[in-house]
Amino acid sequence: MSENAERLARLARAWDEAAAGYEEYFVPRFAPWVDLAVAAAVDADLPDGPVLVPCCGTFPELDRLVERCPAREIVGIDLSPGMVDLARERANERPHVKAIVGDAQTLDPHWAGRCAAVVSVFGLQQIPDPLAAVRSWLDALRPGGRLSIVFWPDTTEDEGPFALVAEVVRASLPAFDDSRWEDEIAAAVTDHGATLERDELSAFPMSHASAAAYFDASTRSGPLRALAISRGDAFMDRLRTAYLAAAPEGEWHHRPHARLITARR
Ligand SMILES: C[S@@+](CC[C@H](N)C(=O)[O-])C[C@H]1O[C@@H](n2cnc3c(N)ncnc32)[C@H](O)[C@@H]1O
Repeated sequence: MSENAERLARLARAWDEAAAGYEEYFVPRFAPWVDLAVAAAVDADLPDGPVLVPCCGTFPELDRLVERCPAREIVGIDLSPGMVDLARERANERPHVKAIVGDAQTLDPHWAGRCAAVVSVFGLQQIPDPLAAVRSWLDALRPGGRLSIVFWPDTTEDEGPFALVAEVVRASLPAFDDSRWEDEIAAAVTDHGATLERDELSAFPMSHASAAAYFDASTRSGPLRALAISRGDAFMDRLRTAYLAAAPEGEWHHRPHARLITARR
């Protein structure tokens, strides 16, 4: 298996294990950004054609999309079969909706030039080559079609559980910076022939019952799951101890920001 295939297989396994807990803990907390991405994608000017949702996870985008465009074909794509099972439950046998397992970095060529919109929330930052994914998603659009992406940038807040987790992870792992693509995403859109419409940071409030509640949810069913699988329990216990030593007592409220990019083909 190539290095890339191994990386994708590890990520798929992590999200398989995370799926049910992700739906319960993270989906309600991430809802404002899902609303933002869908609202930014779908308006009266959208051309005909399907809406693709790369990295759909359990498919929280779906209900908002169906509300706004009930008759359209809507297709979710995700690496994790466990996530896709839950996405299919959410689709609930709606005839225009499908969820399929696949690597969304390079979309199947049969989508090229056919789609009205591509909407993706919190998947881009996990893709090995995010700029290649952006180009592939733009290629799927027909003229006038819209791309709407929300992703977590490398820095999401100055203070809060996301910032503290990033700090303790950085202190425990050899530093490597793979966030340069974030500076290149706007140019990647325009160089690929699309018009950049919005590029902004969007913050919403989020709450956790305690610092531990967030760390444990993230380890079991969120962004730390892949790290927990690759590094094991002893490593995660050390990380947790360092994190809790620096975290406040009691409920933790914060306002992380994600980045929204929208573009027209
Ligand atoms: C944080 S979840 C977000 C799910 C959903 N869009 C949401 O907003 O709740 C990220 C999802 O991206 C998927 N993912 C990561 N890399 C992927 C890839 N290369 N191709 C397809 N899906 C991928 C993961 O399997 C996971 O389900």
